[in-house]
Amino acid sequence: LHGSMTVENNTLSIGGVSCLDLAQKYSTPLYVFDEELIRNNCREYVNYFKVNENKNKVAYAGKAFLPIYMCKLINEENLCLDVVSGGELYTAYKAGFPMENILFHGNNKTIDEIKLGIDLGVGRFVVDNFYELDLIEKICIENNKTQKIYFRITPGIEAHTHDYIKTGQIDSKFGFTLTNGELYDAIKKILNYKNIKLVGLHAHIGSQIFDIEPFLDEVDIMLNLVKEIKEKYNVDLTEIDLGGGIGVYYSKNDKPKTIKDFCEAIISKADETCKKLNIELPTLIIEPGRSIIANAGSTLYTVGSIKDIKDIRTYVSVDGGMTDNIRPSLYQAKYECSVVNKIGNNKGNNVTIAGKCCESGDILIGDIDIMKIESGDILITTSTGAYGYSMSSNYNKIPKAAVVSVINGEEKLICKRQSYEDLLLLEMQ
Ligand code: LLP
Repeated sequence: LHGSMTVENNTLSIGGVSCLDLAQKYSTPLYVFDEELIRNNCREYVNYFKVNENKNKVAYAGKAFLPIYMCKLINEENLCLDVVSGGELYTAYKAGFPMENILFHGNNKTIDEIKLGIDLGVGRFVVDNFYELDLIEKICIENNKTQKIYFRITPGIEAHTHDYIKTGQIDSKFGFTLTNGELYDAIKKILNYKNIKLVGLHAHIGSQIFDIEPFLDEVDIMLNLVKEIKEKYNVDLTEIDLGGGIGVYYSKNDKPKTIKDFCEAIISKADETCKKLNIELPTLIIEPGRSIIANAGSTLYTVGSIKDIKDIRTYVSVDGGMTDNIRPSLYQAKYECSVVNKIGNNKGNNVTIAGKCCESGDILIGDIDIMKIESGDILITTSTGAYGYSMSSNYNKIPKAAVVSVINGEEKLICKRQSYEDLLLLEMQ
């Protein structure tokens, strides 16, 4: 049970609202977000990463889940925001998010995206390559603006995670490579640029990492660079952005560290390294997405057909699947599930939870021991809050599911369910 989940009469509630009632009122599939848990996670980051004490910053990684509701919530919780596209930036803008608290990422920002970012006044561009660097300078000159930036570097750290979501190694599409002198060339270039001010460095070593060790190596590499760049080029780098947060629990083999342990380890490593190098402690930034939102989100489905292939497998099909959660198909991600009104019943029925898409690979959970399950039951998959709705699609022309948030016994509709008419909105008649 995550966050504010409770069980009464074998029935699951989140934030004091019964999952059965939610399914009945909003239909399924339905994403349900536990607002108290989201806020608690934000507060833990703010507290343990010393946002107020040391003026460090926690920037929520919007790619994990970014409706207007989230922009407002994280602003209320004093977090900054990491956006990676014009679409995310526009969402934040429409939500009234303070533009100076935005970091703009991306390895191939388009000219229009760069113009929009400069025009709206985003706080920092995280510049990924020479092409982007030149474009920002040019657009700033044309518009008589200046822009603060970080350079994204690939620090050469191989963290243990899925190949598709690991990003810190040298062979990566992201950032300036450290080992071949690219970073130094970029710094030399910027010394002649009038409208860009380099204030920091950024790196991201990967996502869903459980070990704290690779993050500490990253801190070490980054702070050594701060010293080296000051000595070689007399450039003061006052902000160090360490990228995404710590990995989270999805299923029983996951052993995550707490937000507290993760933050404290980074803070003390940075302190210690700065003392050793005899440099001033820069502002530290981290950009957690998953560890703020993953456990706070769950998905409700209605069980439909149950196909029992004797002695081989029982397929339990639900009314969603890879369209609302691509992660099992894309990364072989493992999830857990329960029947919302049979919590506590004996498990021991081994089933496979399948989605409704026309693809054999649309399997949400392969082989799970679960309570007796029947057509019409409401099934919940937990920890679907990160990279679920944000990676959802309309494959098979399946409308996107609705999103609600729950807190203190009340629910709020965050995103409406798509209708068939909505599906045709962009299509010429
Ligand atoms: N900062 C940068 C520059 C990133 O690239 C990412 C994630 C984050 C922050 C947030 O990382 P987190 O705290 O969420 O671990 N779709 C994949 C995850 C891709 C993550 C990409 N970058 C998934 O569903 O697992």
